Amino acid sequence: MDIDLTGKTALITGGNSGIGAACASHLSNLGANIVLADINPSATGEPGVRDAMSVEVDVTDPAQVERMVEQVVTRFGSLDIAVNSAGVGMPVKAPTAETAVEEWRRLLSVNLDGAFLCMRSELAVMSSGGSIVNIASITGLVGIAGASPYVSSKHGLIGLTRTAALDYATHGVRVNAVAPGFIDTPLLRYPNDAARQQLSASHPMNRMGTPDEVAAAVAFLASPAASFITGAVVPVDGGYTAR
Ligand code: NAI
Repeated sequence: MDIDLTGKTALITGGNSGIGAACASHLSNLGANIVLADINPSATGEPGVRDAMSVEVDVTDPAQVERMVEQVVTRFGSLDIAVNSAGVGMPVKAPTAETAVEEWRRLLSVNLDGAFLCMRSELAVMSSGGSIVNIASITGLVGIAGASPYVSSKHGLIGLTRTAALDYATHGVRVNAVAPGFIDTPLLRYPNDAARQQLSASHPMNRMGTPDEVAAAVAFLASPAASFITGAVVPVDGGYTAR
């Protein structure tokens, strides 16, 4: 399957690390102009992305998010693809009743409010069509003990993805999500090798995924090859949710 995104402009939030950086690399290899948007300008990004535009943004701030999208349109004339990957993990697990209110708000604010704010501004400038791919999680499809805020943020993101897909189905804008299993990125901080091994073994394929394996699915969904796919949530999880 030949996918050519030459002339298309792709915005990737959380683009300076992990899954976002891999998505930037894949979309760049397919010819798209790349905008890396991240709260952390010092993250390395992908060496494979040349000539990427960088925007420093906190996705929880509506004004910054609006400015980010304005900058993209000013520079490239349009926004065609948006990958919403900015997100935070939960280093310390706790049962629901012992979950700190601040932790709940931190997770929901970045992972759900942030994605909503980005989609709101992205959709507003996609009047001549476009494609959005949200980075959800297997935890948007199933629960994980001790991770109420993270799980709730990703369940919410899947609801938001499906609803926006319906809102824009006749406007030439497709909205999809991927639901990765555990992917080896800086977001996962395992205390020791045993914890890492346990995470690997939780997948039927008995390993974690790589950012590139997620990016391959994202690039497909973002591209015209997926022209009849909207509102879909594609697991990229080594069989995790097949059980
Ligand atoms: P990562 O930590 O490598 O990358 C996340 C990026 O988001 C970082 O560059 C960070 O600076 C940026 N970011 C965080 N808060 C931000 C904010 N307020 N505004 C702008 N940028 C912000 O993590 P990873 O693994 O690449 O995560 C990307 C997405 O994938 C997240 O939404 C995460 O929840 C999701 N995901 C990750 C999985 C994993 O196992 N690593 C599994 C399933 C989903």
